[in-house]
Amino acid sequence: MAQVEHLETMWEEEKKDNNCKGEEQNPVRTNKRKHKEVAIFGNYRNYYGYRIGFDEDPRLKAMKKEWFEGKNCLDIGCNSGAVTIAIAQKFCCRSILGIDIDSDRVEDSYWHLEKVLRAQKRLLKTSKQADSKRLNGLEGHLAESLNGRTRDDSEESHASGRRDLSDIVSFKKANFIRNWYPPENMHFDTIICLSVSKWVQLNWGDEGLITLFVKAWRLLQPGGMFILEPQPWSSYNKNRLVSETARSNYQNIKIYPEDFQDILLDKIGFRRVEDITSNASGQKSGFQRPIFAFWK
Ligand SMILES: C[S@@+](CC[C@H](N)C(=O)[O-])C[C@H]1O[C@@H](n2cnc3c(N)ncnc32)[C@H](O)[C@@H]1O
Repeated sequence: MAQVEHLETMWEEEKKDNNCKGEEQNPVRTNKRKHKEVAIFGNYRNYYGYRIGFDEDPRLKAMKKEWFEGKNCLDIGCNSGAVTIAIAQKFCCRSILGIDIDSDRVEDSYWHLEKVLRAQKRLLKTSKQADSKRLNGLEGHLAESLNGRTRDDSEESHASGRRDLSDIVSFKKANFIRNWYPPENMHFDTIICLSVSKWVQLNWGDEGLITLFVKAWRLLQPGGMFILEPQPWSSYNKNRLVSETARSNYQNIKIYPEDFQDILLDKIGFRRVEDITSNASGQKSGFQRPIFAFWK
């Protein structure tokens, strides 16, 4: 427990330090090698195009509705928001905030959300038109009674508070490690952090990783969950030269992905862990990564 206190103090100190430095510059457009943009934070454009394609993200199969339904959720490193939006739609969160260090990815996320909202509206309009056509073709009294029922259903769904996706999902540009703190006393029920830990270690070293874990723990309600998909150590090698910082941090890493579970349980303070990897079958090759759920 003393170790956790030490980590928490570290976080508090860092918080003061960063408040002094103010908002970080948009750090993304760096390291242009010829025409190729290097995604130094894993902030790939079109990440989901090659990771997922048009199908449902297989990682959603590893997640249970009760972890999100009616809950306040946070998605650390949301990229272009595909998982954030899919979770909100599939599992009916109360709220979900996606944050990403790259303002372009946050813009992509809002664009993606608009696209989903437009598709939802089109679908609703088409189904209303189909309903009214069907009803017009029915006998008068039957049509009337059905019409009443349709009206009741829609009133009921309104009363049950089915909310617009744009009231549930939001995005923000922020560096979770350095300069993002939620409004005073804001806590989350569920925090997801998928394929981000490698980028944190390459950019902010082992200290950055510990900040990620401590901060996630502190931002959770008691009983809340932290869903973590760490990249395997073998994949760090491929990205170690994205920047000078990454190269230097890579050489000094002492905490390996296989240590994360023990650290989260023994040092950070999570109560228990479940390996939920096997439920997320069907990942594309190169993306078969473990997924763990930790409970505070
Ligand atoms: C490889 S993508 C993973 C996207 C998404 N979580 C998923 O797995 O579907 C990593 C994302 O984390 C973001 N990221 C990296 N470091 C971050 C930080 N310190 N704060 C916020 N976002 C960060 C990157 O910009 C990038 O979009």
